[in-house]
Amino acid sequence: MTKKRIMSGMRPTGYLHLGNYFGALENWVRLQNDYDCFFSIVDWHALTTGYEDTKDLKENIINMAVDWISAGLDPEKSTIFVQSAVKEISELHLLLSMIVPLSWLERCPTYKDQLQQLKEKNIATYGFLGYPNLQAADIMIHKAEIVPVGEDQLPHLELAREISRRFNYMYGETFPEPQAKMNQIKLLPGLDGRKMSKSYDNTIAISDSPEIIREKVKTMITDPQRIRKTDPGNPNICSVYAFHKVFSEGITKEVEENCKAGTIGCVQCKKQLADNMIAYMTPMYERRIKLLEDKSKIVDILKTGTAKAKAIAKETISEVYEKMNMLELE
Ligand code: TRP
Ligand code: SF4
Repeated sequence: MTKKRIMSGMRPTGYLHLGNYFGALENWVRLQNDYDCFFSIVDWHALTTGYEDTKDLKENIINMAVDWISAGLDPEKSTIFVQSAVKEISELHLLLSMIVPLSWLERCPTYKDQLQQLKEKNIATYGFLGYPNLQAADIMIHKAEIVPVGEDQLPHLELAREISRRFNYMYGETFPEPQAKMNQIKLLPGLDGRKMSKSYDNTIAISDSPEIIREKVKTMITDPQRIRKTDPGNPNICSVYAFHKVFSEGITKEVEENCKAGTIGCVQCKKQLADNMIAYMTPMYERRIKLLEDKSKIVDILKTGTAKAKAIAKETISEVYEKMNMLELE
């Protein structure tokens, strides 16, 4: 049986942290065994909000590939590619922009929210309005049936379905209607108990070495009411406990009970957590070290993936030209 096709992407805006890993990447790693997966480093999407400062773009693309592969994406199983290297996506984007009503884009909730939130960036641009249209082109160029995403992306998926339907209605059945597949997420707070986010500087990166992980765990905020080791604690307000729930499956209950009873000190509790995190993350770190030994290999992986993505994109775009009765001279 042929595997169903999956497509998803991430904007290369800097290193990935454990929130990104447990929010998305971990799912991708699992899916790559059962689906024909296409994972795109969507640098054009990064430009929609980051067009003013592009100095780190190249480096961010390479680093994203390294983060993905060290986290477990396997280039033998999944197609890993760079969006801007598959020019056919931009052709489809342009053609779709002819048929997408402005009102669909203007009423997209993420558009309105971001305009409000990123006021200082001046994203009242043509490109940013078309963000979901570009995303639809990403998905449609590969005729992807399933799109693993977080909840925040559901409006974009709804639009991708509407755009696919509209194309099919006007020019004949061409695209499947892509279905969103909600990521199963494990929630991790940041080191300080707030949401894990680069802008709060409270992250653990998937690139952090075992030593750095251990140091960062030491700085995690615990139950502030606990002063002596024997004070009963409240694990539910402690980030260390939230992390134990993800990394220490077998002993979570024990940690909870010992904390509440005041029979474990925070220092020891953190040490146990750091040990478990390091056990989980060491294979990632080792893959990274190996990858970085030969940077040309990373570029080769991206070239191979991009060639595979492009081959399919070419087929789709020529079918689109044909359906739209455009003159193809090549
Ligand atoms: N907009 C997505 C995000 O920010 C990234 C993305 C771009 C994407 N193209 C895609 C996701 C295609 C899924 C499918 O998370
Ligand atoms: Fe948090 Fe563990 Fe200290 Fe309890 S014992 S407050 S769970 S670090």
